[in-house]
Amino acid sequence: MLFFGGDYNPEQWPEQIWPEDVALMRQAGVTIVSLGVFAWSHLEPEEGRFEFGRLDRIMDLLHDGGIRVALATPTASPPPWFTLAHPEGLPVTADGVRLTHGSRDTYCVSAPAYRAAARTIATELAARYARHPALALWHVHNEYGTDCRCDLTASAFRSWLEKRHGDLDALNESWTTAFWSQRYSDWAQIMPPRATQYLPNPAHVLDFRRFLSDELLGAFVEQRDLLREANPAVPITTNFVQGGWVSVDHARWASEVDIVAVDHYPAAVDGRGEAETAFGGDLARGWAGGEWLLMETAPNLIYTPGRMHAKEPGRLTRHSLNYVARGSRGAMYFQWRQPRGGAELFHSALVPHAGPDTPVFREAIGLGRTLKTIAPYAGGEVEARVAIGWDAPSWWALQGGGLPAADIDYLAAVQQTHRALYRSGIPTDFVFPGRTDSGEASRAGDAVGSGGAAWVGGAGLRPYKIVVLTHLFLISDESAAALREFVAAGGHLVVGHLSGIADPAGRIRLGGYPGAFRDVLGVRVVEWRPLAPGTTIALDDGEQGVRWSERVETAGAETVVRYAGDVLAGAPAITRNRFGAGVAWYVSPGLDDDALRRLLERVAAEAGVTPLLPGRPPEVEAVRRGELLFLFNHGSGPAVVALPGSGTNAVTKRAVSESVTVPAGGVMVINMPDREFKSRTG
Ligand code: GAL
Repeated sequence: MLFFGGDYNPEQWPEQIWPEDVALMRQAGVTIVSLGVFAWSHLEPEEGRFEFGRLDRIMDLLHDGGIRVALATPTASPPPWFTLAHPEGLPVTADGVRLTHGSRDTYCVSAPAYRAAARTIATELAARYARHPALALWHVHNEYGTDCRCDLTASAFRSWLEKRHGDLDALNESWTTAFWSQRYSDWAQIMPPRATQYLPNPAHVLDFRRFLSDELLGAFVEQRDLLREANPAVPITTNFVQGGWVSVDHARWASEVDIVAVDHYPAAVDGRGEAETAFGGDLARGWAGGEWLLMETAPNLIYTPGRMHAKEPGRLTRHSLNYVARGSRGAMYFQWRQPRGGAELFHSALVPHAGPDTPVFREAIGLGRTLKTIAPYAGGEVEARVAIGWDAPSWWALQGGGLPAADIDYLAAVQQTHRALYRSGIPTDFVFPGRTDSGEASRAGDAVGSGGAAWVGGAGLRPYKIVVLTHLFLISDESAAALREFVAAGGHLVVGHLSGIADPAGRIRLGGYPGAFRDVLGVRVVEWRPLAPGTTIALDDGEQGVRWSERVETAGAETVVRYAGDVLAGAPAITRNRFGAGVAWYVSPGLDDDALRRLLERVAAEAGVTPLLPGRPPEVEAVRRGELLFLFNHGSGPAVVALPGSGTNAVTKRAVSESVTVPAGGVMVINMPDREFKSRTG
């Protein structure tokens, strides 16, 4: 079964509406709803007094309607009584302001009172519903990521630091506290990063974000374990959210959930929305090491700065199926019914304010039908021969002040690399430096692939012919060594600027950038020359460098492209180095989308990696999952696509061969056995 549904908040509605909700869910083919995500103040109206009558009734009603439930623990939004009883459980900002209730996520994860209250409500829910026949999944909390800088956090941070660094000498060394007289002589002197006079110590900030990720994970694990004890057969997850503000290292959390669930809200409306969707799906699959679940996305209006954007007809279906094609076990939305009031009253829903007689609900009915039809074939794997490195701590390290350019943007850089491969039609995975990068022992079970414990995701580095690193700023010796082995054994490595620069503590690897990869790349970068906004630097292949340039010296590598302007005229810009049986490329300038795509296509051709469906029209995206071939037409006219073999339209059940026409803005799902699918990814 594929999951299809979304957040359902019956507590916002009079009970008379519930039967209509269930009837509409059945009409749309909804198979599952997330229930109770923000229901704490209803379930526990005062401390220790529980009211489960309404939840009992809605669980039963859903069950009678054949709808499964992802039952949430409501711990992301403590009720107002909690605040008054436990003011120390409220979060404090870096400026020292203690927040109060009135929104959501008003808790400090390090406050014992909050943790105890969260355990209590989770225990009550487990005791009452762990064996309810509607229960398919536990949905713990909502989008962990809340930040707090209070004194309770300070003491938890210090304990975490003691475990990580052992003693203060090691911490002082790791944080380079000799700079600006920051040497700590007592653990009690260490605070969470708080408002300070000028630039904070970047290593301090980085460790705090790692701490917060672990601290939040501890809160999740606590709930997970008690839910599991109540009924080990029910899978448990929490919904991951992406964003620069989120101090959660999802690659590390992934092994703690039974299925990786991800909220993804692509906001681009300028034709990049498709690439953003593909990026979100591929990254989620990487975290999961296979199948994952799209837990939330917007059914219609998308938040874009200054103005919401209504989805074009067909986009809901196209994007939802794209997540499924990229490994999701279904498509779920925020939310089922658009609310009458509350902070997100204009956020889109499957049943909008205007009711079910609307384009969005009609499209949902069609989508529900399609998902049901393809469900029996949709459990396969997505294969890729190219992987991009992703590292949350590198992102965090590149968010501080004091960097060489204000426009350094980790997410944008990784997305650009993914977009280049996406536009080339080359399937792409993500891989993650292993836990050794944070100075801890690696997890049992991570030791797979030629990357060993040093790279996780899928099967380490083993399945890949090409690995691309973009802004992977921090790297451990172990992860760097695994990449070296990967190249020596015949792999193709592409390293862009700002990768391999520092150790996991953020200390620069000396002797020339990128210190972790100088030998494998056969280059030495002696000077960074960030470009002023809006300026470019000419390259001798006719392309332009954007945002960034460097003075590169070769030490064994051949120069493929040279700078052709500024003081760098004639100096190497893009290099290629034979290393063992493999090849390592260094790309020192920033490139625009087309130039990057052309370069990666050249690397792919050399490595023998081909697009999934060579010769497809450019507006058509092809994704293969198991034996299903998904064709997405993002263009405004019908597209004729030549097929590599014959198969069956998985929706209409009609035989297809030679070519098919995918309607404008439409999707075609073809069941094509491997023996027919001749153009493999290499
Ligand atoms: C998610 C969140 C939902 C809702 C949604 C709006 O991040 O989990 O509760 O707020 O965003 O887009």
